[in-house]
Amino acid sequence: MKKLDVVALCGSLRRASLNRQAIRLAQEVAPAHMAIEELDWRAVPVLDADELAHGFPAPVAALRTRVRAADAVLIATPEYNFSIPGGLKNVIDWLSRGEDQPLDGKPVAIVSASPGPLGGARVQYDLRKVLLFVNAMPLVKPEVFIGGAAGKFDAPTGACTDATTRDFVTRQMAAFADWIAGVQRMRGSAAAQSCPSQQASAARATNEQETPWHSPHPTVAPRASRTSTKTARPRSSTPAWARTSRRA
Ligand SMILES: Cc1cc2nc3c(=O)[nH]c(=O)nc-3n(C[C@H](O)[C@H](O)[C@H](O)COP(=O)(O)O)c2cc1C
Repeated sequence: MKKLDVVALCGSLRRASLNRQAIRLAQEVAPAHMAIEELDWRAVPVLDADELAHGFPAPVAALRTRVRAADAVLIATPEYNFSIPGGLKNVIDWLSRGEDQPLDGKPVAIVSASPGPLGGARVQYDLRKVLLFVNAMPLVKPEVFIGGAAGKFDAPTGACTDATTRDFVTRQMAAFADWIAGVQRMRGSAAAQSCPSQQASAARATNEQETPWHSPHPTVAPRASRTSTKTARPRSSTPAWARTSRRA
C-alpha cells in the first residue's frame, strides 16, 4: 500500500518550537501508512506583488511543487497576537497565487501549541477562514489545542511527556488519514462523473466571467472580462471543492 504523503508546515521558525515538537509527535503516532515530512520555508521572501508579476522566486516555486505533490498538509502553528503568525500567512499567500494552486482541494489538519492555557485556540479559526478562501479541505474534528505546552514536551529531547496530548494527536492523525482517503475518493468520483465536454464549457464560461479578485492568476484580468461579470455564470456540475483550479 502506498503511504499517504503528508507535508507539514510549522508556523514558528524557533529552533525549540513547541509546534515543531507537535509535528514530531504527529510523525511518531501517525498511522503506519502515513509519512509526514516537515517543509523548511525559511527562505521564502515576503510577498511583493510586483515581484510576483515576474514569477515565483525559486524557494516559493520549490515549496509550491512539493505541496502540490503531497496528499495532504499538516499545519502546526503558534498563535501570534490572537492570530496567524506573519511568516505562515505569507507562505499561504504565496501558495494562493498562480495556476494550479497547491492548496486547492487539499486535505489539511491543524494543531496549535502554546505555553498559554488556550493552546492557540484563536489562531485555528483565523487559519480556517484563510483556508476557506484557498479552497482547502480542513479536517474538522478532532481539534487539537495543546495548552500549557511548555510542560508537555521534554525540553532537551522534544519528546511528548503528556499521555493526553499523545492520545489526542494519535486520534487526530487517524481521523486525518480517513479524511484524506475520503477526500481522494470524492475527488475521484466527481472527476469521473464530469464528462470532458461539460468541463470544457464550464471552464470557458468561468474564464469569460472571471473577476480580478477571484482570479488565481497574478495578472489582472483584461478589461473585456471585467465588463462581463454582470451575466449569471452557468453552474458547473463539478463541486467547487473538486475543481482543479479555484474560480468558484
Ligand atoms: C509575537 C508573538 C505573539 C504572541 N502572541 C500570543 C498569543 O496571542 N497567544 C498565545 O497563546 N501565545 C502568544 N505568544 C506566545 C507563543 O505562544 C509562544 O512563544 C510559543 O512558544 C510560540 O510557539 P513555538 O514554541 O512553536 O515557537 C506570542 C509570541 C510571540 C513571539
